[in-house]
Parts: sequence; structure tokens; C-alpha cells
Amino acid sequence: MEDFKIRGPYWLVYFPTDSCNYKCKHCYLENIPEKDEMDYEEVMRIFSNSSLLKNTRIGISGGEPFTKRDIVDILTGLSKMGYKLEITTNGAFPEKIGDFLMNSNTTKVDIAISIDGLKDINDEIRTKGGFNKAIESIKIIKDIGVNLLQVNTVIQKLNINQLEEIKQYFSSFVDHHFFIPLLSTRNNRVDYTDKEIEKILEYMHYKFDIKYLITKGEFRIKDCHSGQTTCFIDPTGKVFTCMTGQRYFFPRKNYFMGDLRKINYSFDDLWISKQAEIARKDVKKCEGCYNACEVHREKSWHGLDDNIDWEIISKKW
Ligand SMILES: C[S@@+](CC[C@H](N)C(=O)[O-])C[C@H]1O[C@@H](n2cnc3c(N)ncnc32)[C@H](O)[C@@H]1O
Ligand code: SF4
Ligand code: SF4
Repeated sequence: MEDFKIRGPYWLVYFPTDSCNYKCKHCYLENIPEKDEMDYEEVMRIFSNSSLLKNTRIGISGGEPFTKRDIVDILTGLSKMGYKLEITTNGAFPEKIGDFLMNSNTTKVDIAISIDGLKDINDEIRTKGGFNKAIESIKIIKDIGVNLLQVNTVIQKLNINQLEEIKQYFSSFVDHHFFIPLLSTRNNRVDYTDKEIEKILEYMHYKFDIKYLITKGEFRIKDCHSGQTTCFIDPTGKVFTCMTGQRYFFPRKNYFMGDLRKINYSFDDLWISKQAEIARKDVKKCEGCYNACEVHREKSWHGLDDNIDWEIISKKW
């Protein structure tokens, strides 16, 4: 049996919900109102019954995870089972974050708060009052303590002239501050001018991001390992090889591995099922993508950050 069938995914993303309390200008996601989402008991069944998921890191995203009614119970439950959690949130619910952290193993919790500018610009991009709420969340997280506290900023037209101030403000305030280039999910989504790209390059951490920017979004990771090293669980318990194909791409890529509700919540059965095999074969035909979540993991696990053809790039640039 192939190695990944015995060890399960290293990392998965679970969206507790697709709904969100914000409407950020740059967001590629459809804001879908809560419908038929799995509840606390269902989520616990999946993660407590699986031996393949024992060492899997769980990325929590969405939608806004903290809008979900029973999210504190879900996160606390996963943490008590020993899972390492990597949570991305808009920081609009500081009390819920505090409740969760007070009852969890915080040494195995990483939190990324999304903030896209200093107060006025962030609130223009994200939502009025969002900056203060996010800062309140950061203060609570710092008081309680976590393994890693990060702020992520997506570079876009509205904040491009504030990058240095944003960097200065957050680099001493949290463990890591990351600038993320706007993700290209539709053709020509990367609409930075050459001058803007030149400016942004200074703020990139990865060669990989540089390659993406200077090819204006043409760069794609191909032959990826989604469905083997990673997978995505949607709010209703359906499993796909990748979040990117299922939630970011237009039109959607349906690399469907199975429905946990229909197989007694058994992730282990799903992972070795015929349907999962079909999905993995489909992934081989994928034209590739660029996404900080899945692709950055490809980069670190398979050394892709170093596989950059600088000759091709310099010709394009
Ligand atoms: C989709 S949100 C979900 C979690 C949560 N609601 C939040 O805002 O952090 C996850 C991250 O994706 C980022 N994001 C949204 N649209 C993007 C785009 N077009 N390009 C790059 N990142 C994007 C958000 O800014 C956020 O940091
Ligand atoms: S808070 Fe997150 S999910 Fe909601 S609109 Fe903003 S980026 Fe999208
Ligand atoms: S390259 Fe295709 S299969 Fe791989 S993560 Fe991106 S969309 Fe999914």
C-alpha cells in the first residue's frame, strides 16, 4: 500500500463554516449562510475515531470560524484530543478566542489574525471597527499565550502605500507578520502594475512569492500532492483533496474524496476508498495553482522553493 495510505495526511484544513460576518474587499470566498453544517458531536466523531489522523495538524479557516455557534466547544474538544491547531480568524470575537484558549493546550495552538492595514485602511478593506476588535483579540492571545501568534496582511491597492508602517507596527507586537500577495483565482486577478510589484517584492519572505509576482500570477505549482499529504473537510463533512480547488478556484475543481456523514464519520475508510483514488487521479490532471496554504506546504515538503528557474523569470521581468 502506498505510504500516504498508511500514514494519512500531514495536514488538513477544516472549515467549520462558510459564513462570515465581514465582507472584505479582496476576499475570494462566497459568504454562504450556515446550512447543514456539522455540529460538535459530528466533528468529535470524525477526529476521535481515526487512527490515520492522529498526527495530522488541523488548519481551521472558513468563512469566519468564530461565527459558528459551537466553535469554542469544537476547538476545545480537538485540542483536548491532542491535535495541533492552526487557526485563521478575522479577530472579531475576542471573548470566544479567550474562552477557547483558557480551556485548551495552548502550546499546540497557532493563531493567525488577518489585518490588512492600520486602523482606517484595515477598516475600509475589512469592516468598520475590525481593527480595534482584532487588536483586542491579539492582547487576549498574548496574555494567555500560544505557540505562535501571527498577523497576515494581504497586499492590495488600498494598503500598498502603507506597507512599511504596517510592518513596523506588527513586527514588534506579534511573533510573525506576513505579507501575502493577492491570490489569483480567476484569470488576470493579479492586477498590480510593474511599479507596484517592484515595491511589493521587498516585503516578500519566499522566493516562491517572488516568482508568482513577477510572472503576474502565471506561475503555478503543478503535480501537487493534495489528497496524499493534505485534504480539505467542508462544513458539511464532505472531503476534497484541497481547499484551493474546492473553494478558491472559479469554476470549482471537484476533487471529491467522499462524504463522512455517509460512511459513519470514518475518515480512515474514506482515505483508502475508491472515490479517494479517483480524486487523486483527477489531481494529476490539475493545471496547477498558487495558494499560500496548500502550495506553501508543497514548497516546504518537496523543496519547491529552490526550484526556481531564474533565467525564465528574468526574461519575463
Ligand atoms: C478567507 S480568510 C478565512 C479566515 C478568516 N475569516 C480571516 O479573515 O482570517 C483566510 C485568509 O485568506 C485571505 N484572503 C482572502 N481573499 C484573498 C485573496 N484574494 N488573496 C489572498 N488572500 C486572501 C484573508 O485575508 C485571510 O487572511
Ligand atoms: S473575514 Fe475572512 S472570510 Fe470573511 S470576508 Fe474577510 S477574508 Fe473573507
Ligand atoms: S494544484 Fe490543483 S490539486 Fe493541487 S492544491 Fe492546487 S487546485 Fe488543488
